[in-house]
Amino acid sequence: MCGIVGILGKRDAAPLLLDGLKRLEYRGYDSAGIATLVNGSIDRRRAEGKLANLAAVLEGSPLAGTVGIGHTRWATHGVPSENNAHPHISDNVALVHNGIIENFLELKDELGERASAITSETDTEVVAHVINMYLDEGLSPKEAVAKTLPRLEGAFSFVMIFRGHHDLMVGARRGSPLAIGYGEGEMYFGSDALALAPLTRRICYLEDGDWAAVGPDGAEVFNEAGEAVDRPIVETAVSGAIIGKGNFPHFMLKEIYEQPTVIGDTLATVLNPASQTVTLPPLPIDFATVPRITISACGTASYAGYVAKYWLEGLARIPVEVDIASEFRYRGAPLPEGGLAIFVSQSGETADTLEALRFCKREGQHILSIVNVPESTIARESDAVILTKAGPEIGVASTKAFTTQLTVFASIAIAAARARGTIDHKREAELASALSEVPGRAAEVLKHDEHIAEIAQTIAKARDVFYMGRGSSFPIAMEGALKLKEISYIHAEGYAAGEMKHGPIALIEDEVPIIMIAPSDALFEKTASNVQEMISRGGKVIFLSDAKGIARMKKQAVPFACIELPAVDPVVAPILYSIPVQLLAYHTAVIKGTDVDQPRNLAKSVTVE
Ligand code: AGP
Repeated sequence: MCGIVGILGKRDAAPLLLDGLKRLEYRGYDSAGIATLVNGSIDRRRAEGKLANLAAVLEGSPLAGTVGIGHTRWATHGVPSENNAHPHISDNVALVHNGIIENFLELKDELGERASAITSETDTEVVAHVINMYLDEGLSPKEAVAKTLPRLEGAFSFVMIFRGHHDLMVGARRGSPLAIGYGEGEMYFGSDALALAPLTRRICYLEDGDWAAVGPDGAEVFNEAGEAVDRPIVETAVSGAIIGKGNFPHFMLKEIYEQPTVIGDTLATVLNPASQTVTLPPLPIDFATVPRITISACGTASYAGYVAKYWLEGLARIPVEVDIASEFRYRGAPLPEGGLAIFVSQSGETADTLEALRFCKREGQHILSIVNVPESTIARESDAVILTKAGPEIGVASTKAFTTQLTVFASIAIAAARARGTIDHKREAELASALSEVPGRAAEVLKHDEHIAEIAQTIAKARDVFYMGRGSSFPIAMEGALKLKEISYIHAEGYAAGEMKHGPIALIEDEVPIIMIAPSDALFEKTASNVQEMISRGGKVIFLSDAKGIARMKKQAVPFACIELPAVDPVVAPILYSIPVQLLAYHTAVIKGTDVDQPRNLAKSVTVE
């Protein structure tokens, strides 16, 4: 979604704002803009497209002023254009916004004549004019904000500055994250700690409904009822270092190659290699008695949940329901007393997942979240958190976050099975050992990168691609299809291999690539039959298996291409088989020439519904 930075400082604000926006560009990159207070007036620069375009504008036409706000946009209302870029101004106020104002048209109607001053197609600009209307009525900036916020319907985080008020910046939060930064005689707002890290580590996270007025010496925070409240100031652990690509051409490839390390780092927090046991952080539930587990997430994170269902039901015999958060949050699912609800999110800010969490909290579930950002909203609203140790994931397409989510889920399944007595210590030791070998096996898989890049030449020519698998390979098929879609823009579908004969096989014809995920497991023979069905209809099967599986397959029918992975315990296969499908999508996108790290229409963290 959009990235927001605000500075009430002593130094030139524009360069600092631009630097902060660079850390947020992964959240949205349709357009960007900065506004500052210059000699009592509001001045602004905006540009369509990537942040580099704004930097060029500022190079040619610098902005003065020590108080300012900046924004990177992921378009919701109004096309990506300079005119729709934030900040939006209405005479005495400039503001930036992340979220969606659902009643902006009604508000626009109420503006009457004033609406003729509106120049953009955005919901945001309407809010600026409403605030300005109250300012014109003689209200102070704080009074005008306090009067406007209750009239807004939808999710938002705002930061605003006011003409003639060099000692005031106001921020508000409902549904979209916003933090206050405490500097030395300077104050800041930011969408997250990452944006503020180079400026300060002292962060105060606003809670939903809060708004804050900051001056040079600190902040006043008010809750939705307008009462002054205290919110804690924490020392953020987020590093201020700009995450670089190292020697890699793209963040995504760097992050794919980081997987052996970060899977190992994640395992180190839950696995005892000496005793070959799994120890989870303290959790608010007893797996021995939990009646059911509900898992909800979005996109790639949801596929981690679908894999976890096979593990938790297969190993721990716990009934598991998985649903995508955008459906689950409205379904009103009946939930059992004392149930556990698990939420998976790399960013920890995904709006649908957060609202699904809040639904489960209202329904009395124990809340556990698996996130990559420890200070995120989802983490802060959970009863317990297990962190993926993937490090900042900048590429919009999730890779290392996904395999570390799987790593955490595998550990949870093993711990739950032990607690319920459905596995003995011997089996626990086998599984712990298999997990401990995953980092090394992942490094082996990466050695097939060049071979996979060659196969990508075939995928890049395709119009439609199928990914298939059975059992816990089925969610990996869906994840592989999503990876290909979101970065190469080629249509792909992930399908349960056994389901193809019930209709979709009609789509298989000459040249249709099928990526078949087929570790040697209990379902291998069935999967091999599916491969034969595809090949006999002209499908180009790219067969992912271990040496034994490939040899067995070739006796029956010879696939177009094979990718050989190390032989592993079938339980941990989904973690490893994620890597070739990531690389296949990556290389295909490079061949297609798309923007691998910032694909069109996407954003790294979807904080709107
Ligand atoms: C994954 O490649 C996508 N970028 C997207 O599906 C993502 O996984 C989804 O938006 C969930 O994001 P989260 O993990 O930050 O909640």
